[in-house]
Amino acid sequence: MQLLSTVNAVRQYVAAARRQQQSIGLVPTMGYLHEGHLSLARKAREQNDIVIMSIFVNPTQFGPGEDLERYPRALERDRELAAATGVDAIFAPAVPEMYPDGYATYVRVEGITEYLCGASRPGHFEGVATVVSKLFNIVQPDRAYFGLKDYQQAQVIKRMVIDLNIPVEIVTVPTVREADGLALSSRNKYLTPVQRQSATALYQALKKGAVLIRSGERRAEIVREAMVAEILSRPETRVDYVAVSDAQTLKPITTINKGKVLLALAVWVGNTRLIDNLTVEVADNVAHHDEEQATPG
Ligand code: PAJ
Repeated sequence: MQLLSTVNAVRQYVAAARRQQQSIGLVPTMGYLHEGHLSLARKAREQNDIVIMSIFVNPTQFGPGEDLERYPRALERDRELAAATGVDAIFAPAVPEMYPDGYATYVRVEGITEYLCGASRPGHFEGVATVVSKLFNIVQPDRAYFGLKDYQQAQVIKRMVIDLNIPVEIVTVPTVREADGLALSSRNKYLTPVQRQSATALYQALKKGAVLIRSGERRAEIVREAMVAEILSRPETRVDYVAVSDAQTLKPITTINKGKVLLALAVWVGNTRLIDNLTVEVADNVAHHDEEQATPG
């Protein structure tokens, strides 16, 4: 497996693959790899001749006071995991390689970034859209892989590639969870044992919301309140947001109608902010979970 740290090295690597007519899949990550990231890499491995994973803790998507400095980093371990999963090359640039002196250009997606994480983390999706569009320009992949754990992020990227005519296919992959339902996240590392217990409340709340909808509840506020109560029943939890939203526009809804509903939440467990979501397909009078369950292999 190759470890590339400059844009030029990636361009050369990709040019060689292109000369051999090889297709390229890109898996953007911030590293500290877990089974969620690896499930994206496996999907990319199935669908492309060459798999490139980027590992870059992107400073422009962190707000002031967020966890940029303490975000976990483990490049050696990541290298081994990526290689064992069939990744052909890692692109792990230093910050000045991506944002040299004088850097001044940002990509802003409107509309869907107003809600959920976009509302609680101003500028976050601008940082994400900027770095991902740079990665797309550097690698020029045929396909790029994103996890539904970050549902809003995947929607933002899909919107961006349509609007900017970026010739890449966006492939989304189901959320990988621990046995007790907690979505895998690099940030789970921050949790104390008590907090780790409390963190199961996120998925419990989502399931509770889905069950209510499935049993016929159509008032979003009732669903929301039940989810909030589930979260606050655990020690050291604080709600950032709990939303019942339209799964396309991400706009909060008041009445649940036929179509795809997104249950999304962000919860502080101690000093750690965790997110999760579930989509529910609502037929006229019946609803079912949309999410294919993926468990760590
Ligand atoms: P990061 O949080 O490292 O996640 C990288 C990719 O892995 C994202 O597409 C994310 O949705 C996916 N992922 C994370 N946890 C997952 C899980 N439990 N199941 C399935 N997929 C999961 O998301 C980012 O980095 C950054 O914002 C990035 C897109 C790399 C831009 O900097």
